[in-house]
Amino acid sequence: MGNSFPNNPTFTGLNTPVRAEVEIRDLEVEGVIPAEIEGAFFRAVPDPAYPPMLGDDVAISGDGMVSRFKFENGHVDYAIKYVETARHKAEAAARRSLFGLYRNPFTDDPSVAGVDRTVANTTPVWHAGRLLMTKEDGRPYEIDPETLETRGSWDFEGKLKSETVTAHPRIDPETKEMFFFGYEADGLASRQIAYCIADKDGKLVSEEWFEAPYCASVHDFAITEKYAVFPLFPTTADFDRIKAGGMHWVHEQERESWVGIMPRYGKASEIRWIKGPPGVSVYHIINAFDDGDLVQIDMCQTDTNAFPFIREASGLKINQWEIQGGVMRWTIDMKNPDSAPEIRPLGPPGDLPRLRDADQGRPYRATWYLSINPQGGPPLAGGPVGTAFNCLMRLEPGNGRIEVMGLEPAMAINEPAHVPASDPHHEGWLMCVVDKQYGEGDYRSELWIINAGDVAKGPVAKVKVPVRLRPQVHGWWVSAEQLAKARAA
Ligand SMILES: [Fe+2]
Repeated sequence: MGNSFPNNPTFTGLNTPVRAEVEIRDLEVEGVIPAEIEGAFFRAVPDPAYPPMLGDDVAISGDGMVSRFKFENGHVDYAIKYVETARHKAEAAARRSLFGLYRNPFTDDPSVAGVDRTVANTTPVWHAGRLLMTKEDGRPYEIDPETLETRGSWDFEGKLKSETVTAHPRIDPETKEMFFFGYEADGLASRQIAYCIADKDGKLVSEEWFEAPYCASVHDFAITEKYAVFPLFPTTADFDRIKAGGMHWVHEQERESWVGIMPRYGKASEIRWIKGPPGVSVYHIINAFDDGDLVQIDMCQTDTNAFPFIREASGLKINQWEIQGGVMRWTIDMKNPDSAPEIRPLGPPGDLPRLRDADQGRPYRATWYLSINPQGGPPLAGGPVGTAFNCLMRLEPGNGRIEVMGLEPAMAINEPAHVPASDPHHEGWLMCVVDKQYGEGDYRSELWIINAGDVAKGPVAKVKVPVRLRPQVHGWWVSAEQLAKARAA
């Protein structure tokens, strides 16, 4: 038990805990913010409130903070606040950390037995006028979008049976329904997955439970206009290992992957499982869509698990820079669903993809994601997997066309949000936090606004942030119109 943070990459450099709840009005802006950017960019930022109880911890265990850049008439205001989870409140009351290993309650201080362990640190989700801070190991916490205060755990008005909710729901751009799921839905290492639909008003209208081939880390899924698609990769949990105080996840390099697919308004009994190649791993799915009888699924794939702590727990001696991968398209023929998916590369390796909301579940022209540009010098240490990205890519999956916004050495880039443009011929705007190291322990951050159709040109505006920012996980853009509608409701 320590009262200082460990001196290792999870807690130093870009990952140095900041732990400050701040509000800053009128950030300095270089360049001109396009007038149509009006609203809020919410970000989920893990930031451990206390040094780890067991002497060390993983980056993705950091307490969730909800952060907001608010855009109003060319002015930008910044705010960040802890999500008041049951876990954060218990630790704040004790003035120390009380929870042990990542997703292992058997390693906790006995005083917090039964307390909700989620840190709500992965994605701020906006649906039906409600802001939810999510993490896949628990239910979301509802946040007041104006004050960033926590309203409490959200269970869809008592209707949700699943104990967990993904940080990657999918919202249909036409029906405005939110499709989501929870895995380990009825407890640790369970194979049960709950597939849920909330209607445009946020009411839970469907919850279908099915059993997965094994208990996998199911970080993301996809919808098309006809199907719900559940790719499953062999990063697996085992109850006995967890109970014995071991790691929640190991990656089984020799084990097969799967894709579960069912009609998106169907029953759990209609799900079919299609076997894929062994050992591969995907955290983020760019999009999926129907193509006649084919279902196309585009994913950021790696040939092993991307998290060093999971590879280590699995006895896999593979360095971060040795991991191969790419943006891959898996094609499933629904006329012949027992045949293996056909897999082909669409683009270079990378992750944290962004899609226009309007393209969700449909054929699409372009996606944006982050990658490592060898010309950008060695990547900065930091972020969830320990190595930060240093370039932004725009990829057209239909023809492989790529445009790149590289960064100077000693810079890092966080996941972009997309802001739609009013002109239908304009691809809209991207915004992302960019960090730069100036010297030992000296990091400064800016929020860059980029023309989504012309990323190579670099930012049209830079918003300077006069305080330290810790690397974010995911973000979400909410327009001023959506915020006003929620206020009026
Ligand atoms: Fe994610």
